[in-house]
Amino acid sequence: MQIVILAAGQGKRMHSNLPKVLHPVAGKPLAQHVIDTARTLSPEKLVVVYGHGGDVVRSTLAAPDISWAEQAQQLGTGHAVAQAVPELTDAAQTLVLYGDVPLTTAATLRRLLQAGRDGLAILTVDLADPTGYGRIVRDAGGQVQRIVEEKDATAAEKAICEVNTGIMAMPTARLRDWLGRLKNDNAQGEYYLTDVVSLAVGEGLPVRTAQPDGEWEVLGVNSKVQLAELERQHQRNIADGLLVAGVRLADPARIDVRGQLKHGRDVAIDVGCVFEGEVELGDAVEVGPYCVLKNVRVGAGTRIAAFCHFEDAVIGPDGVLGPYARLRPGTELGAEVHIGNFVEVKKSLIGDQSKANHLAYIGDAEIGRRVNVGAGTITCNYDGANKHKTIIEDDVFIGSDTQLVAPVVVGRGATLGAGTTLTKDAPPDALTVSRPKQLTVAGWARPEKLKK
Ligand code: UD1
Ligand code: CA
Repeated sequence: MQIVILAAGQGKRMHSNLPKVLHPVAGKPLAQHVIDTARTLSPEKLVVVYGHGGDVVRSTLAAPDISWAEQAQQLGTGHAVAQAVPELTDAAQTLVLYGDVPLTTAATLRRLLQAGRDGLAILTVDLADPTGYGRIVRDAGGQVQRIVEEKDATAAEKAICEVNTGIMAMPTARLRDWLGRLKNDNAQGEYYLTDVVSLAVGEGLPVRTAQPDGEWEVLGVNSKVQLAELERQHQRNIADGLLVAGVRLADPARIDVRGQLKHGRDVAIDVGCVFEGEVELGDAVEVGPYCVLKNVRVGAGTRIAAFCHFEDAVIGPDGVLGPYARLRPGTELGAEVHIGNFVEVKKSLIGDQSKANHLAYIGDAEIGRRVNVGAGTITCNYDGANKHKTIIEDDVFIGSDTQLVAPVVVGRGATLGAGTTLTKDAPPDALTVSRPKQLTVAGWARPEKLKK
């Protein structure tokens, strides 16, 4: 079996410089959804017909298993498929998909291919309002005769509610021949792929239909309104999958997964969270409201409070994070680590049971176990030209408002007094403090406001 994906349309109604098929659903281009689903069917050949925004479309979707066919002028769906035909071999079936119909499932496509095993198969759907779609015309015996486009249809044909989704499967040798015979003498002056149906019927080839499990599977995107609707539908499907698998969602309508979300048992997710890339939540992890997690692994039992932003980080088990915590790329937290409000951690390792609970910047640091990082602590990792490392060994206590001017090492068990600006290593098990001596001026009077 071979697959042709039509992706040449401009999408005028998107009002965008981005070609239509590159607009994202769940953070992934529409056409990428179609390509990914197509791949699960293991086609011998995958041809994408492109036109508008050609270079961007090709470079965004590029992959070694994709063949490209250019349709310089959009003269209709039949003309579009004709551009791909030189890439196809006669022996196998051809499945035609649309690059702007992202949510068709592989199961539905398998049913369609099965229906078309010895002929032509059309994916159809019954719509309450069929306006705009091609209608499936059947004879008295219920056999499909042809497809008529809305603009070419009679009043009686317009009343038909079974519509063509555009997705079809057929024998490639016949397709090649039919496409050569298409005419554009219709209301739109286009070469309609749909005209192959009556040609197949004329040759006595079996023409069958298959239906999707849900209407959303065959919905296309022509506007930002439809894009937003499909996004919500897709997110709802993902949310339902999570609920069925045992995840507690405060509201399945208020979660966005833009990638893969793996989870253990008894995971709970509050409203408004966004998961991007590969995210893994261990058993009993709790995620508070309005968190953004991108490429993050969270150990079992960790609780994440509201408004956290984590990216490319690994978090150990039984941690307590947030609210308002930020973990940037390269962060690794051990077990039972606490990271509190307005604490930013970048490219740092933080050992088991260490805590930084308030207002701190930890960058390019290695922090041992049971370390307490006081409020307002800053690792001064950047000298304006290069980044340097801060090493803080086990059982260190760092007083509030301390600056560690890297490179610097704080020895095991050391204490840094509040307000210290550390520019040299601090020895283990000792108190180090850099602070002017406290001074009291007795009898000092505050200045008084001068009279004008
Ligand atoms: C087409 C079908 C119609 C069906 C509808 C489903 C035809 C003649 N009509 O209608 O029966 O109900 O889809 O949505 O096939 N494309 C190209 N090159 C072209 C024309 C289109 O690549 O020259 C691509 C578009 O980018 C799009 C798809 O083909 O992905 C469908 O094109 P569109 O113009 O939306 O199809 P309709 O005419 O609405
Ligand atoms: Ca100070």
